[in-house]
Amino acid sequence: MEGNDPREKKHRLCGMSAIYAGGNNYKLDARALGASNGRTEANEFMGMPREEKLWSSPEHARKYLARADALPRRTEGEATLLEFVPAGVTRVLDLGTGAGRLIGLMETVRPRAEFVGLDFSPTMFEAFDKRFVGDPRVSRVAHDFAKKLPAMGWFDCVISSFAIHHLAHERKRSLYAEIFELLAPGGIFYNLEHVSSPTEALHDEFLQAIGMSREDEDAENILLDLDTQLKWLRELGFKAVDCHWKWRELALFGGMKPAKES
Ligand SMILES: C[S@@+](CC[C@H](N)C(=O)[O-])C[C@H]1O[C@@H](n2cnc3c(N)ncnc32)[C@H](O)[C@@H]1O
Repeated sequence: MEGNDPREKKHRLCGMSAIYAGGNNYKLDARALGASNGRTEANEFMGMPREEKLWSSPEHARKYLARADALPRRTEGEATLLEFVPAGVTRVLDLGTGAGRLIGLMETVRPRAEFVGLDFSPTMFEAFDKRFVGDPRVSRVAHDFAKKLPAMGWFDCVISSFAIHHLAHERKRSLYAEIFELLAPGGIFYNLEHVSSPTEALHDEFLQAIGMSREDEDAENILLDLDTQLKWLRELGFKAVDCHWKWRELALFGGMKPAKES
């Protein structure tokens, strides 16, 4: 049901719905919660209705890759993320890795680390494989992170850029809990993310600033405000939780799993 809350905006593009909600009073509908619409298996992609998963479409993935460099200010957020990665990290997981953009950046500053990129898009993995062919430090896991993460061993660093906002809010929180579990004590998590604006006007200004309109928006964006996500990370046990960089709806935030007490 669409409410009267002016902060809530339902986008209807390509016959799909997504939720834009500003402030902390986000609302969900069945689709934002990931409910099945009962379509047949033939129409499914990794257990989800295919037409509801834009990121399973090669065209959507290629369109993103073609414009990825053009997102204003993203390099500032990425550079800030790199600043927060300790020199001694040994094993890094990139959630929603796409073509491995973040891993490529991290490799330059942490050349001795091992990297695992997780995604569910075959098209993204084609680009990922081309980029890292023959690189023994880099591997990948095909998985839909709307579902529980598979066993992948421990990591001392989990990173993600512009991917987790595609999940329903409940799953964002439970994914953060799973990240906490797979981090070694003292491990860090940083998410360079698209967060919601507190008002519709600020959302429109953001879109204008990145050269987009409401019509161009990704129908699978389920934006959530930064404060809620910082609060969740603290509740889940992360320490030193903070937002280290923000420009309009782009934010770098995260924290550390406490080191074991000796
Ligand atoms: C906007 S792209 C960002 C890619 C990369 N992190 C970057 O910064 O260039 C979002 C990525 O998240 C992936 N993704 C979206 N939903 C996902 C899901 N449920 N499970 C796994 N990957 C997902 C997409 O396939 C895509 O590669």
